[in-house]
Amino acid sequence: TLLGLWARVAAVGGMALSCMLFLTVSFHSSPYYTGADIVFVFAWIPLVLAGSGGVLSLDAVIAGRVADEYDLGPVTVVPVRFSVVQEVCGNFDHDTCAARDGRPCDVRRCPFLSAQPRPRRKTAAERGLSAIDRRTVVLGGAAVAAAAVVGGVVAGAAAGLGRVIGAAPNPRNQTVAMSPGRSSGTTTPGTSPSTTTPAAPVAPSTSTTEPAGARIGLASDIPLGGAGSFTDPKSGDPALVLQLQRGQFVAFDAVCPHAGCTVGYSAADHLIVCPCHGSEFDPSTGAVLRSPAPHGLTPIPVVVDASGELLVDG
Ligand code: FES
Repeated sequence: TLLGLWARVAAVGGMALSCMLFLTVSFHSSPYYTGADIVFVFAWIPLVLAGSGGVLSLDAVIAGRVADEYDLGPVTVVPVRFSVVQEVCGNFDHDTCAARDGRPCDVRRCPFLSAQPRPRRKTAAERGLSAIDRRTVVLGGAAVAAAAVVGGVVAGAAAGLGRVIGAAPNPRNQTVAMSPGRSSGTTTPGTSPSTTTPAAPVAPSTSTTEPAGARIGLASDIPLGGAGSFTDPKSGDPALVLQLQRGQFVAFDAVCPHAGCTVGYSAADHLIVCPCHGSEFDPSTGAVLRSPAPHGLTPIPVVVDASGELLVDG
């Protein structure tokens, strides 16, 4: 594509590659439009339709050479008076040509009406040069197409295998969905019990006054070293609550400050991760550890009441 050699073929290859990357790598981006590959699929369309456009490309150089070789330069228009055409080529009248001794007119012999540029014969050197060019073009084009196909297949296979074999943890799969008043011990289907430590009984609060706040679920539903999701009753935003140490809970607004995706907790990495552009946050403080998020997550104060319910404080 950059060289402009077989630009349409290269663009079709690029489009196929972007499409494959969209289907395998960025398909789960949320919101969907943050996955750039689908944008690239459409961005290839002008190059697929128009190729290199005949400028600044090897395709244009080759086309120029061919035009020179066959004298197919730009057509020059020369105005000729019609009276001159009649005088030279004849005046067709009742099936005879008045200007040519009564002979039938024959437009094929008229220099103004029938002249066609005759391709000049190529010299031996030129024939040799053009043969090399053709071979180079064919080989180069075949290499471009083969590279596009191989690249697409390898990229797709690598991405697919990486997902299956690498078992990259999906942060959302390690988060327990919480709801107020739900009985202890139930978890969201798909939560892997082997990746988290079973929840320990949470020590009841020693406070004599019952904390006030909105209930978000049972503290015992949050596994030690794991996380639960809930909806912040104040803002309505998705939120995360984590039990990083036994009986110690922290919670954050789960809306990523970069572009608004919902972050999740990766127990394997001990990080809160944004699936859209890879921002990472400290699970203890919510501070941003990796951009592009401009700042950390908003903390939400939570407490555990005497019955073991988690409450959003205040
Ligand atoms: Fe871009 Fe989170 S939305 S990193």
